[in-house]
Amino acid sequence: MSSLHNKVVVITGASSGIGKALVLEALGRGAMVAGCGRSLARLQDAFPGTDGSKLMLFEADVREPAACKAFVAAAISRFGGIDVLLNNAGISMRALFNDASVDVLRELMDINFWGAVECTKAALPAILERKGVIVGVSSIAGYRGLPGRTGYSASKFALQGFLEALRTELLHSGVHVMWVSPGFTASNIRNVARAADGGVQGETPLDEGKLMSAGECARRVFHAVAARKRSVVMTRQGKITVWLNKLLPGLADSLVYNHFKKEPGSPLK
Ligand SMILES: NC(=O)c1ccc[n+]([C@@H]2O[C@H](COP(=O)([O-])OP(=O)(O)OC[C@H]3O[C@@H](n4cnc5c(N)ncnc54)[C@H](OP(=O)(O)O)[C@@H]3O)[C@@H](O)[C@H]2O)c1
Repeated sequence: MSSLHNKVVVITGASSGIGKALVLEALGRGAMVAGCGRSLARLQDAFPGTDGSKLMLFEADVREPAACKAFVAAAISRFGGIDVLLNNAGISMRALFNDASVDVLRELMDINFWGAVECTKAALPAILERKGVIVGVSSIAGYRGLPGRTGYSASKFALQGFLEALRTELLHSGVHVMWVSPGFTASNIRNVARAADGGVQGETPLDEGKLMSAGECARRVFHAVAARKRSVVMTRQGKITVWLNKLLPGLADSLVYNHFKKEPGSPLK
């Protein structure tokens, strides 16, 4: 799938950050795009003046199976099928497991994992018809557990396991299944990351201006989709982390601990 001209691209979590950039990149490459988020007003604010003939915005909370089905059905009804599904909607957390409510971990699983499963389930028959592509937006946290992010890591490990198994099931179907793992990317994710009590963190510990831009991340995603990559780890720091964790997992424990302990406001003592 080298060009997206008149292809149908369905994107969850389209109102902000990487999802918003994926919408703009897909439109720029000639696709027809369906994007969802929990608030139609927020989605509309994200794309002022965009040509509505090629973009469908749909209010859907991916925690709700019926909403995932309705979103996918609306995209098929509007554009006639699905070529690419991007399971992007996601949230993060920052709290030690000992302090955090288990409900925080459950919410992350509901959005990051079950939301992707439900959207994929709803879209698969249409994607099979077009021999399309299913993508999960994962993270380095899907390869290496990160302290203060137990629920986030669990959700991304689960996502990758699900997608790897599905890819193998679909090996001879013509459908391609893949995941992409951005490194730290400028977005709203750290501002709305869940704290121990489930409230939002409200600030980012990183200098967002120094991170990869969401636009660059989106370009790399569609490059990987066109090349039908199995998985992509986007940053040098991410690649080193993944390999170090495979080769020297004990050392990786110490280095990861020390890295996250140095973050401003780190919950690690
Ligand atoms: N930024 C990074 O450093 C980074 C690194 C690795 C991986 N990622 C992954 O990239 C993906 C996108 O994150 P981002 O960084 O772009 O964060 P973001 O700016 O906070 O965007 C998250 C998007 O997900 C949507 N969303 C959240 N909960 C939802 C729900 N229940 N139903 C439907 N949509 C929902 C949000 O829309 P509403 O709030 O309007 O519903 C928003 O559009 C996530 O899967 C994240 O894990 C990000």
